Amino acid sequence: MTQPAPLVSLIRGDGIGPEITDATLRMLEAAGAALRFEEVPAGAGALTTHQDPLPALTLTSIEKNKVALKGPLSTPMGTGFRSVNVALRQHFDLYVNLRPALSFPGVPSRYQNVDIVTVRENTEDIYAGIEHFVGPGRSAAESIAVITRLGSERIVRYAFEYARRHKRKKVSIIHKANILKMSNGLFLEVAKQVASEYPDIQHDDVIVDAACMKLVLFPERFDVIVTMNLFGDILSDLIAGLVGGLGVSPGANLGEKAAIFEAVHGSAPDIAGMGIANPTALALAAEMMLHHVGQSDAAGRLRRGLLACLADERLRTKDLGGQANTRTFTDGVCASIGQNG
Ligand code: NAI
Repeated sequence: MTQPAPLVSLIRGDGIGPEITDATLRMLEAAGAALRFEEVPAGAGALTTHQDPLPALTLTSIEKNKVALKGPLSTPMGTGFRSVNVALRQHFDLYVNLRPALSFPGVPSRYQNVDIVTVRENTEDIYAGIEHFVGPGRSAAESIAVITRLGSERIVRYAFEYARRHKRKKVSIIHKANILKMSNGLFLEVAKQVASEYPDIQHDDVIVDAACMKLVLFPERFDVIVTMNLFGDILSDLIAGLVGGLGVSPGANLGEKAAIFEAVHGSAPDIAGMGIANPTALALAAEMMLHHVGQSDAAGRLRRGLLACLADERLRTKDLGGQANTRTFTDGVCASIGQNG
């Protein structure tokens, strides 16, 4: 008896989310992905329709399906509801944020030789949500960074296992242990212990400020990066900028309970509804999802279609310096998949 196609929780998201999700669904269909989708609400849109940015039915769906494809979700700045992205990562203990960044042939970017995978810890650090005002009249505020031995151990182990599985040569541990001697010192201590168990993989440790400079000057020297939540958030955007920007940068949030695939970028309110968003990042996240559910053939078809169209300047979207829009790029990818399979 044939297995039913896996059921995926689908969050279209805010801003450009629905546009790039529609585009990605078309590409998935063209690539012959055998998936069923269960659409669920989240984000600013869900606050309007369900009076809750993260309704219980969405959590139940992801808990059941264990796989989700998610468009970007807006988070109000300074006030308002807490980030739904952070809430999802914490609720399902999605402790790995995996962000591959690769120079794509033909995509205009500063470098053509970047191939870096950032493994970012996704549940701890300053994003743990422990914040309060102190003193009268909100004269000061504190945000507390929490780093645990367990959290550090499992993320660093994931990075080394990933390196081994994907035949990567080196893992760079990024930290600020010279100043944050306890929190970052603990992360570094644990990271070095774990690294010693993987003699087949080289490792080094780099202070985050020096890492920023080295990434911009010599990105080819980096292979796999493992770091804490805040540095990982910032560094992965920096690295996205080395390979053509956020429009081509996918991410996966992984844990034992679920896996949520998304673009690294946000809801891009400045271009929402204009039909010009680049759907590549979400489509590449969908490719990661296909590998996750064991559909590598469809993943390969999707990737080849994307690469062919990214190299074609007539199909380039505005963020990559071209004139094409979401629809023409998506038409191109679907046609390319149809021609080349
Ligand atoms: P953003 O990533 O949405 O946009 C930054 C810049 O990149 C904008 O100029 C935007 O037009 C451009 N851009 C982003 N994605 C693009 C695409 N696919 N094609 C073409 N151009 C693209 O970052 P911003 O403006 O700081 O955040 C907007 C909202 O998104 C905020 O509410 C933020 O909290 C949320 N956000 C959500 C994330 C998620 O759901 N994982 C991640 C980052 C931000």
